[in-house]
Amino acid sequence: MIRVKNLVKHFGDLKAVDGITFTVENGEIFGFLGPNGAGKTTTIRMLSCIIRPTSGNAYLNGYNILDNPMEIRSMVGILTENPCLYERLTPVANLDFFGKLYDIPKTIRATRIDEILEMFDLQDRKFEKVETFSKGMKQKLALARSLLHDPQILFLDEPTSALDPKTAKGVRDYIKKLSEGGDKIIFICTHNLTEAEYLCDRVAVIDHGKIVGIGSPEELSRDIWKGEQVEIAIKNYDSHIEQSLKQLNFIKNFEYQDHILRIDVNDTSKDNPRIVETLVKSGAQIVSVEIKRHSLEDIYLNLVRD
Ligand SMILES: Nc1ncnc2c1ncn2[C@@H]1O[C@H](COP(=O)(O)OP(=O)(O)OP(=O)(O)O)[C@@H](O)[C@H]1O
Ligand SMILES: [Mg+2]
Repeated sequence: MIRVKNLVKHFGDLKAVDGITFTVENGEIFGFLGPNGAGKTTTIRMLSCIIRPTSGNAYLNGYNILDNPMEIRSMVGILTENPCLYERLTPVANLDFFGKLYDIPKTIRATRIDEILEMFDLQDRKFEKVETFSKGMKQKLALARSLLHDPQILFLDEPTSALDPKTAKGVRDYIKKLSEGGDKIIFICTHNLTEAEYLCDRVAVIDHGKIVGIGSPEELSRDIWKGEQVEIAIKNYDSHIEQSLKQLNFIKNFEYQDHILRIDVNDTSKDNPRIVETLVKSGAQIVSVEIKRHSLEDIYLNLVRD
């Protein structure tokens, strides 16, 4: 579990991170979104003990970033914004070096490196110097390095930004698999909102160093638009059905147009069954029921629009 408490980072007069507080539960894929310069990378760097906060603290599985940096560094894996690899070493030498730093025993190390290079499709280049690699290949290798010691908490700063669409999909699927059924935390900064929508259980949106929204996309959408809308396609809408809907006092508003009934409610998960039951009882022939969802892009643009 990650508990961040009033974390602040100043660079001179600039408040890069301006008092953020939030929690990430074990097993979650957590998205950290926000415009360029919002403070995402700075937050990740503080949480993984690369830089110290100006004030505030954060607790990772009980250890805190001020007093327990060594314990935290051994528990987390990090993919930094820039790959930060040793260019004149081969992938194998790079991974072997970092494997030693993470105390992975020699016997396991070679097999683990082999497996991980295989997974990221880097086997045929494993004895070439990293300086000869393309940007995306370096990113894959850096990602491989972040996973080498099977960390409990993984910080990924724009993990797919340099990858081709097929490789990016492979990485996303891998991230999903990695989190399945386990208690790992995967903390991802990304500008790719489709990726965040696909991967993340919850997201936080940070802007000018402050968190402007946090929750699952459904929760954020409910908060912003003060409720949800359900669209029900009905063949035989009539005044009898209309009257029965008027009896439901939890409905905020509804309209029927082009065979679609649009109903505004607070919470579709609670209210939908009651609406459907009422409609069926009043003889409605329901063709489909669909919850109208705002995309994460709509949510993001609403939160950072000012
Ligand atoms: N070492 C540093 N010295 C001075 N200012 C810094 C330093 N690192 C970051 N900053 C500033 O802090 C602010 C937040 O930067 P940060 O890298 O955290 O943004 P970000 O949200 O990761 O942006 P991006 O989406 O572009 O990666 C920016 O204004 C940046 O210029
Ligand atoms: Mg960044």
